[in-house]
Amino acid sequence: MRLRHSDYDFWAKTQSKARYNLATSGVASFPLRELPVTIEQLEINGDSTYGYAPLQHAIAKKCGVDSDCVVAAEGTSMANHLAMAALIDPGDELLIEEPTYELIESCALYLGAAVKHFRRREEDGFAVDPAEIRRVLTPKTKLIVLVNLHNPSSALIPNQILREVGDLARSVGAHVLVDEVYLDAVYENTPRSAFHLGPEFIVTNSLTKIYGLSGLRCGWILAEPSLARTMYRLNDLFAAIPAHPAELLSVIAFENLHRIREWARRIVEADRDLLRKFLDQEKKISATRTDFGTTCIVRLKNGNVDQLLDRLRSEYETTAVPGKFFGLPHHFRIGMGVDTTMFGQGLRRISRALETV
Ligand SMILES: Cc1ncc(COP(=O)(O)O)c(C=O)c1O
Repeated sequence: MRLRHSDYDFWAKTQSKARYNLATSGVASFPLRELPVTIEQLEINGDSTYGYAPLQHAIAKKCGVDSDCVVAAEGTSMANHLAMAALIDPGDELLIEEPTYELIESCALYLGAAVKHFRRREEDGFAVDPAEIRRVLTPKTKLIVLVNLHNPSSALIPNQILREVGDLARSVGAHVLVDEVYLDAVYENTPRSAFHLGPEFIVTNSLTKIYGLSGLRCGWILAEPSLARTMYRLNDLFAAIPAHPAELLSVIAFENLHRIREWARRIVEADRDLLRKFLDQEKKISATRTDFGTTCIVRLKNGNVDQLLDRLRSEYETTAVPGKFFGLPHHFRIGMGVDTTMFGQGLRRISRALETV
């Protein structure tokens, strides 16, 4: 039987909320009142068939690509689904990093892919090792999937490594899908999209995580034009046309993108300062540290993570994501960027819970 659900998403939708919610991956919601928009600028229906032209242009401009390389999608979630569905047939071999964002793998399994894994090792800071990919690559490989910044560790994949992965893919006629939903949380010297590295790269992204605009569901795929058209035609089977008010609001969001990003950056950076101090003090945990991203994966050196997280929830009103959803049963993931007072309180509560581990 094909997989038809995601355990992680079910947990996130039903179990992650708490007064001190450190189980997040995106920044705080950007308030609608902060967007310079009036009701007169909105309309219910519009001219969106295979993309709403002003939004296609806005995405293309941000990414430095031609509009015909852009496929608008409902969040990075649908972008990943469409990209994979356009590229693989049931039984095709697909290589996924491990640990990874569970929904990408669940979606690949739902599509009937023959999923193989390559390891991103904690002792290497969860870096991508092209030798690991070479080890599992075969002439049957159709797609290699990476997330940059990595979820859960926020590790950045350098361009040199991405190029090596691109070379490997090209050698067997495969593509590389890079989910870049967290990449704009590299606030200094933000890397260009991997799409620019070569024709084997396909990229997905959205305004959800780093801009606090999840409700707009403004996501996209970058792919070479003929593949982009295939993806748009495929989307006819799923979403047909997008919600037009969301498209209009997304165009306005793009006009204000720098301000929105800077607003979120202040929260993320304040939270990261608190996280650094917390990690320096806590001897019962270790973590892969980065200077960017909104998530941090933490290892509990001794003790049971499920018990710790249960106590955090029941005694301290605090949540973090169980590492088991990433295949890391001795870890938990902490999210930054929502509310610095809440974040500080949450960390203090984790410290108190750790005292009795
Ligand atoms: C790597 C990754 N891709 C995609 C998503 C979903 O993004 P969106 O809300 O844009 O659908 C998430 C959400 O956590 C994620 O971590």
